[in-house]
Amino acid sequence: MAERPTKKSWAEPFKIKVVEPIKMTTRDYRLKCIEEAGYNTFLLKSEDVYIDLLTDSGTSAMSDHQWAGMMLGDEAYAGSRNFYHLEDVIRKYYGYKWIVPTHQGRAAEHIISQILIKDGDYIPGNMYFTTTRLHQELAGGNFVDVIIDEAHDPTNEHPFKADIDLQKLEDLIKKVGAEKVPYISMATAVNMAGGQPISLGNLKEVREMSHKYGIPIIHDATRVAENAYLIKEREPGYQDKTIAEIIREICDLTDGCTMSAKKDCLVNIGGFLAVNDEELYKKAQNMVVVYEGLHTYGGMAGRDMEAVARGLEESVEYEHIKARIGQVQYLGEKVLGWDIPIIVPIGTHGVFLDARRFLPHIDQDEFPAQTLAAQIFVESGVRSMERGNVSAGRDPRTGKNRRPALELVRLTVPRRVYTQAHMDVTAEAILEVFDNRDKVKGLKFTYEPEYLRFFQARFEPIT
Ligand code: F0G
Repeated sequence: MAERPTKKSWAEPFKIKVVEPIKMTTRDYRLKCIEEAGYNTFLLKSEDVYIDLLTDSGTSAMSDHQWAGMMLGDEAYAGSRNFYHLEDVIRKYYGYKWIVPTHQGRAAEHIISQILIKDGDYIPGNMYFTTTRLHQELAGGNFVDVIIDEAHDPTNEHPFKADIDLQKLEDLIKKVGAEKVPYISMATAVNMAGGQPISLGNLKEVREMSHKYGIPIIHDATRVAENAYLIKEREPGYQDKTIAEIIREICDLTDGCTMSAKKDCLVNIGGFLAVNDEELYKKAQNMVVVYEGLHTYGGMAGRDMEAVARGLEESVEYEHIKARIGQVQYLGEKVLGWDIPIIVPIGTHGVFLDARRFLPHIDQDEFPAQTLAAQIFVESGVRSMERGNVSAGRDPRTGKNRRPALELVRLTVPRRVYTQAHMDVTAEAILEVFDNRDKVKGLKFTYEPEYLRFFQARFEPIT
């Protein structure tokens, strides 16, 4: 007889109404595909992928309520009713006063960076994100990582690895002077650290410092609901609060946010910038017409804004977020059970394989994570993404690869898209690659683009 369960299972709070077929291919076919794609999973064709864990960005399944909202798109050039609905929802759940819609997150990052950063400024943040740092640098700023040291150690089980090291933050402010620090760049559920949360206790202390030196906090709210769930699970005093209450408490400790709605908000495209300062808002509102579109649509159609508004409301529901993170944890626990090296604690939006320990024989300048992502695709048809030396890029001062402490392959789980059976197949595929890891060889560049090289770079195996 099978063992009786020791804990209660959870299940997704939805049933499936529409399905999209996916196809399994042969190993030979996939080898040809990855060669043609220059060993970069971003350059594969989606139809050649079996289970697509490249990203959780824009890959969510929308609800019937969101799809119904798409039919209510008000496509007026100016003053679309969907914009006002979106504005109401953002004000209600995040509490920021002024909203500038954009087509996705990086457009909001571009606008805020151009407005706030002056040449030679320093922007402290809890670990870099690729597009965020690039926009800060393009505006003349220097990003400085002030996340706690634990975040750079994949084996450290700290429950809030996205916390900011207050000493590092204050040291920087004292060294360069507060006038050279335009804002603190604080992300919830830090992507590059493995989807690790910040604690409210830490954020309150950061807020005190921000007040002490008169430096605002700009929040990357891309995965704020996921962070809120882990606060409810892990931080004393928050067990009885709702996800919505925790989100609001986070946002209230900050001065504005950039948002890629393609993640938490359960849509395929969309984003916004939201701020409390009216002067800042006016500047952003003026800039958005240059780069995105009128300030009542940014880069979005009316129907897109409606889908974001409805998705944002769904994102704060406890049953949704519990199942979402539950699925990621399910995959993580499965591979961890076979002693496959991943980042612990398991994060919010994906399972991050530690490529340093997975492929210890490959030097970081031969791109172990890039190599591993390619190998996983060849063996199984599962698509993942490199988050290591290729993503980190070159240091603009030295021109050398940055060789970040974390050399990761991200198995990112789209929201409401795959079943537990897909997670089982994925875990078994990783195990197979792990068993044959000694034979895998590293990669070298054949083409290296100037900006965000990981998206379009091409490689070949080192022989
Ligand atoms: N901030 C974070 C934390 C992100 O994860 C992303 C995108 C952005 C900003 C930029 O938003 O793509 O809408 O312009 N992350 C995607 C990913 C690309 O796969 O993690 P965007």
